[in-house]
Amino acid sequence: MSVVIRSAIDFYNRHPITADIVLAKLKQARGHLDDLQPDDLLAHDQDHYGGTDATDALARLAGIGNGTTVVDFCAGIGGPARYIAHRYGADVIGIELTPARVAGANELTRRVGLQDKVRVIEGDVMQVPLPDASADAVISQEALLHVPDNLKALREAHRILKPGGRIAFSTWIAPRPLSEPDRDLMWRGMAMASLHSLDGYRAMLREAGFTVTSAEDLTAAWGEILRQRLAMYRKLRGEAEAAGTPSGHDAFYESYVRFVDLVTSGAMGGGRFAAERA
Ligand SMILES: C[S@@+](CC[C@H](N)C(=O)[O-])C[C@H]1O[C@@H](n2cnc3c(N)ncnc32)[C@H](O)[C@@H]1O
Repeated sequence: MSVVIRSAIDFYNRHPITADIVLAKLKQARGHLDDLQPDDLLAHDQDHYGGTDATDALARLAGIGNGTTVVDFCAGIGGPARYIAHRYGADVIGIELTPARVAGANELTRRVGLQDKVRVIEGDVMQVPLPDASADAVISQEALLHVPDNLKALREAHRILKPGGRIAFSTWIAPRPLSEPDRDLMWRGMAMASLHSLDGYRAMLREAGFTVTSAEDLTAAWGEILRQRLAMYRKLRGEAEAAGTPSGHDAFYESYVRFVDLVTSGAMGGGRFAAERA
């Protein structure tokens, strides 16, 4: 296993959104975990910006409906996979690298009774453990930045899609390569292994054999989300200091400020892409 892949797993083993945490929050709010429904999870299990609206946008672009066979690249704890199965009636297979997240995804899926529609399997999207021409749609949300070779992942998407099948995904983009210190910061702070421009993704999709149907720049929307989060974080730090209990985590705070700066200045941002397999 490469150092980069190992680092992505380490990063997600320390991630604050886990199945155990989702269940603990639900238990605290409801007093028990009996009779959980898919919608009960939605406030907690979506590990991307924009919640289920962002997943709806991908579902529309990928033509997902009742009975569509969908593969979710980098499925995390299965939030988007369960949502698409429950909301659209699709059958979803998630591909997820981090073993603890595979187990967590399947545990949450069982708890809400979707195990016949959703299954998350352990795997690397650069080498997908599924047969050729077996899916109608591939989606991926805010994860390809962790994947060192995006072209390889897109070629895998093309291989597993049936002719006429569609891919839709969102991920981080940058109009120009970041400086060395900023790249290092993003590597340490968010396990960022690769970053491409909007045009770079268009070219990779074509090289993988797709016809590109859309490429949208989401930088302004993601910048606004980050601006609001930073303002909230600053307020909490200020309150902690005023109460005589400074929050610490200065290194994390400094890197977060720089990250928000990069996004609000447009040096980094978000992209949403859709393409069709001929
Ligand atoms: C930001 S989370 C997104 C999870 C999910 N898409 C969502 O929106 O809730 C990124 C996920 O990608 C997974 N991942 C990273 N590299 C991967 C790879 N090469 N193959 C499969 N999954 C990967 C991580 O383990 C992590 O769970």
